[in-house]
Amino acid sequence: MRKDSRASILNDPTIEAVLDRLYEEADRQVGALLWHYLPKLPGLFLGKGIQWDQTKTEFYRDKYIPIERDQGEFLYLLARSLNAKAIVEYGTSFGISTIYLATAVRDNGGGVVIGTEMVPEKVIQARKNIADAELETYVEIREGNALETLQHLNQPIDLVLMDGWIHLAIDVLKLLDPFIRPGGIVVSDNVGTFKDDLKPYVEFLQDPVNGYRSATLALKAGTEFSVKVR
Ligand SMILES: C[S@@+](CC[C@H](N)C(=O)[O-])C[C@H]1O[C@@H](n2cnc3c(N)ncnc32)[C@H](O)[C@@H]1O
Repeated sequence: MRKDSRASILNDPTIEAVLDRLYEEADRQVGALLWHYLPKLPGLFLGKGIQWDQTKTEFYRDKYIPIERDQGEFLYLLARSLNAKAIVEYGTSFGISTIYLATAVRDNGGGVVIGTEMVPEKVIQARKNIADAELETYVEIREGNALETLQHLNQPIDLVLMDGWIHLAIDVLKLLDPFIRPGGIVVSDNVGTFKDDLKPYVEFLQDPVNGYRSATLALKAGTEFSVKVR
C-alpha cells in the first residue's frame, strides 16, 4: 500500500500491486541496512555523506535498495515528457526502477528499457517481477558488469538512470555518453548519500565543457538531474 494518501500517477492496478509488494519487501530490509550503515552515519551528519566501501558489496546481494516512489514517479513523468523510446538503467536490482521506466515506455507507445544487473539471482527475480507487472515486452536486462554489457547499444538513448555501484559511475557515464542524444537526460541517484565519493562524478556533469547542464535536485538525499546540451 502506498504510504501517503496520494494515488500513484501510474494509474495501473496490476503495476501498483507489484510495486506495493516489492516496496514492502524492501521495507523489511531497512533494519539490516540501518545496522550496516550505523558506523558510517557520522559522515552523513557532518555533511560529507556516507563513505562507499567497495569491499562490502556482498552484503547487498539480496538487498533491494530501490529508488523511492517519488523518484520513480519523477522518472515516469520525465520519460513521458521526453517521449522516451530507449532508456538505459545502470543498476536494476529487483526491478523497481525498471518498472517505472518500462511503464512510461509502454505508455509512450513502445520502446525498450535496457537494465543492467551483475547479481544473477537478482536478474532472475527482476525478470519475474517485470513479467508480473506485464511489462516484459519493454525490458531487456543485461546480466553482468555494466561496463561490459553496455558496450553494444544500437540506438540513441533518451534517458539514463544511474543507480549502480558508485565507484564505476563515471566510467559507465563515459561509456554511455556517445549514445545519449542531444536533449537526453541523465538522472543519478545517491549523489547526496555518497556526497564525497561522487564529487568528481557530479563535477564532471556540472562542468559545461563536458556537454551537460546539471543540477542537484532535493529528491531523496540528492538526485542529480543532467541534460545533454550537445
Ligand atoms: C541501488 S541498487 C539498484 C536499485 C534499482 N535501481 C531499483 O530502484 O530497484 C544497485 C544495483 O546495481 C547493481 N550493480 C552495481 N554495480 C554494477 C555493475 N557494474 N554492473 C551491473 N550491475 C551493477 C547491484 O548489484 C545492485 O543490485
